[in-house]
Amino acid sequence: MSERSPTHSKSVAFEASEDTRCNTTDNPTIGDIIEARFTRRQVLGSLGVSVIAGMAASGGNLLFPKPVNATTSTFTFNEIEAKVTANHAVANGHSADVLLRWGDPVLPGAPEFDPTDQSAEAQAMQFGYNNDFLGFIPLNDSADHGLLVVNHEYTNEELMFPGMGRQDRDKKFADVTKDHVNIEMMAHGGTVVEIKNTDSGWQVISDSKYNRRITAETEMEISGPCAGHDRMKTSYSTDGKKVRGMFNNCAGGITPWGTWLAAEENVNGYFWNKEALAGHSEERNLRRMGAPGQWYNWGKFHDRFDIAKEPNELNRFGWVVEIDPKDPTSTPKKRTALGRFKHEGAETIVNKDGRLVVYMGDDQRFDYVYKFVSQAKVDTKNPHNNTDLLDAGVLSVARFNESGWVDWMPLVYGKGPLTEENDFASQADVLIETRRAADLLGATPMDRPEDVQPNKHTGSVYVMLTNNTRRKNDQVDSANPRAENKFGHIIELQPSRGDHAASKARWEVLVTCGDPTANVGASFNPETTKNGWFGMPDNCAIDTDGRLWVATDGNSAKKTGRTDGVWAMETAGKLRGTSRHFYRCPEGAELCGPTFTPDDTALFVANQHPGDGSTFDQPSTRWPDFDESLPPRPSVVAITRIGGGRVG
Ligand code: FEO
Ligand code: CA
Ligand code: CA
Ligand code: CA
Repeated sequence: MSERSPTHSKSVAFEASEDTRCNTTDNPTIGDIIEARFTRRQVLGSLGVSVIAGMAASGGNLLFPKPVNATTSTFTFNEIEAKVTANHAVANGHSADVLLRWGDPVLPGAPEFDPTDQSAEAQAMQFGYNNDFLGFIPLNDSADHGLLVVNHEYTNEELMFPGMGRQDRDKKFADVTKDHVNIEMMAHGGTVVEIKNTDSGWQVISDSKYNRRITAETEMEISGPCAGHDRMKTSYSTDGKKVRGMFNNCAGGITPWGTWLAAEENVNGYFWNKEALAGHSEERNLRRMGAPGQWYNWGKFHDRFDIAKEPNELNRFGWVVEIDPKDPTSTPKKRTALGRFKHEGAETIVNKDGRLVVYMGDDQRFDYVYKFVSQAKVDTKNPHNNTDLLDAGVLSVARFNESGWVDWMPLVYGKGPLTEENDFASQADVLIETRRAADLLGATPMDRPEDVQPNKHTGSVYVMLTNNTRRKNDQVDSANPRAENKFGHIIELQPSRGDHAASKARWEVLVTCGDPTANVGASFNPETTKNGWFGMPDNCAIDTDGRLWVATDGNSAKKTGRTDGVWAMETAGKLRGTSRHFYRCPEGAELCGPTFTPDDTALFVANQHPGDGSTFDQPSTRWPDFDESLPPRPSVVAITRIGGGRVG
């Protein structure tokens, strides 16, 4: 659909949002640039898809010589069946235990969860909705004891509130009251909890001094080049340096100094008043972000979400937020140097020269892949010296060339087209309108870039591209090799000379996703079983051996005959491109936030929106409680090996 409507169910709205193209530029696809690695005809036709796919699958890549010794899988678990079930499941020999559910008390004085008597006050002290990114931060260097940080991306009224009905079918949007809105605002944001591996498994320490809820109202600081800029000023913050809350925090990252990066994604959906768009002071900027989306009733009850009443408020969202989980009184900071767009994740690596590199995707069809390189080096001995390291550095956007190289193009005010001629008067302007600046540089429009994950062991970087059914035949290029890309793909980058700060990297398609036995151009290694393939890669994690674990968003009975889940993937040797099914989500859930403890003895995963597509009153699953009085609840699961040892 071309436009979201407030009457659509939230996940439908999100899917539709990502389906909508906000990028109206005509940036050349790779096929238009430089001489082709494949001929134009090969790239465009279905033959081209299978040629490229075949190259990836056979390990027949021309660019990345791989060790040839690994002919047996490095994953020893027996894979599970890919199907749709009301309950979740994990590979034999492992245990998957629910650690935290929506509504669980996390702060002192929090009431027990009662979905028929929920309040904003209760929700502000309980675990929020739609858990997404998970980060584990060890305490005292222990792999069995630490802080779990969790993003709460968004809310589904139809699954949270009795009698609400499906937003798309039952047109209940008008029934969302101020009380509902205030509960929703408290169910967004994030949670910090102390957790410990005990004799009875991983447990939450409910009275920990570290436990914290962050919501859509938590006061935060605007930091970096945009702090104090006129376009950041509102009636709440006349100096443009403060902001209330974060929302739609999707994936994220953990810095080497133990802070949490929470990435704000579809922030456009929370704003109201489409009538005020034409002639608005920020019209071009709002349109490029797909705003106002009007998916929520927040603007009806809170003026700041009305673009007419508070014209700059949306400029204060769409950032990466840095939070110190070890100090529950600390003020979260929006790090504007990392740019403003629909941030999916913010995964970090310390470069060989000591600087920090943050890899980021802008999750919308035809949007871009970015990286940030810090100006200063990371102080590995004194974490406090890194406090404002993310305020200075260079943000770059990727152009994937046919030649197999990525060019990282700096988004710097005064350079190239980023000048007054195009209405950029400062670096703050460039960062507030990062997408438009990247358009002007000729970045490559991608098939929904989600997690962009560096592998510390190999120096590779994996780019998860979920799908893009809007890509037409004449928009296909070798980095986005399929028209109507329903199932997504994964690209691997190798920075030039192992230097993540370099302006170039090699790239290659690791795998194109979907059923390899169907005629959809999927390219898993032929060793992959009927359970081992997947669609819609979204988040991922790397274990201590440098092995890739992929989490998906969008598999279903209808689309792939399977729920979302976790698949483990070989990236080297003859089995490169082989994946195995490790964990299956309950029906309707998306798998988010996979993260290992430092010793790989636990893998934490977040099941977001279980029961999606159904309602509170008639849920398709009641996971994880299976109690007739409770709706399905988004929950974090701890996966461990029975009897101990490494997962997988
Ligand atoms: Fe929130 Fe891009 O998934
Ligand atoms: Ca995601
Ligand atoms: Ca990740
Ligand atoms: Ca997603």
